[in-house]
Amino acid sequence: MNGQKDRQRQDALQIMVLDSPAEAGAAAAAVVLSCVQAKPDAVLGFATGSSPLPLYDALAESGGDFSGVQGFALDEYVGLPPRDPRSYAAVIHSEVTRRLGLRPGAVHVPDVSDPDLDASAQRYERAISDAGGVDLQILGIGHNGHLAFNEPGAALDSRTRVEVLAERTRRANARFFDSLDEVPALCLTQGIGTILQARHLLLIAHGTDKADIVSRALQGPVSPECPASALQLHPQVTVFLDRAAAARLHP
Ligand code: GLP
Repeated sequence: MNGQKDRQRQDALQIMVLDSPAEAGAAAAAVVLSCVQAKPDAVLGFATGSSPLPLYDALAESGGDFSGVQGFALDEYVGLPPRDPRSYAAVIHSEVTRRLGLRPGAVHVPDVSDPDLDASAQRYERAISDAGGVDLQILGIGHNGHLAFNEPGAALDSRTRVEVLAERTRRANARFFDSLDEVPALCLTQGIGTILQARHLLLIAHGTDKADIVSRALQGPVSPECPASALQLHPQVTVFLDRAAAARLHP
């Protein structure tokens, strides 16, 4: 019985190991392009952070037509001034909307300007379901196993909500700010349950510093202690790694 379950999980999880982040990005871009060719009005889920940048580079260079696509970002910091260049709304605009030629406003980002963040979170959930759900969700992974900003301990069925950033996450993201003190303490993030509803998940990771967490997430126990381990519960996950990030996977 367990053997059968393990086989089903392995069928659901496809792991591709490429020589470099650029090659992993190009291979992941081919999946996104074929999704959009098959469905020009596809709903794509976009991640921020450095992991998906080679994928966005490859998509920008592909000349693909993304004019019919709509999208949803995974998360947003709470507390940055409006139009702050470090906000994920700004990053999504410059790395995704502008570079790929999406319609202005085609990518939704959680609205953190509403003082009622819980109401905003519920509106975001509704917007995703009103759009028919996410066809293909692009994901990175945090060093502590976070997906979007779902930090260790997040329930595997959690929905969009306010989350407190872990110290490890704030330190990792301090590279985008002048000092650690400037990194926001709160965010609005899609929940693990929200992410698992996307029809196809595409995880990208590169670098030696991700090797441990990639093996824990894909081959360790499924537990809220490692939110990304929830990927093992999804029926269609494609993972693109460079050799360094794949170094701790067992055959
Ligand atoms: C960020 C984002 C995540 C991202 C992760 C990894 O803080 N909220 O969506 O996947 O952390 O970031 P990076 O790709 O820069 O390592």
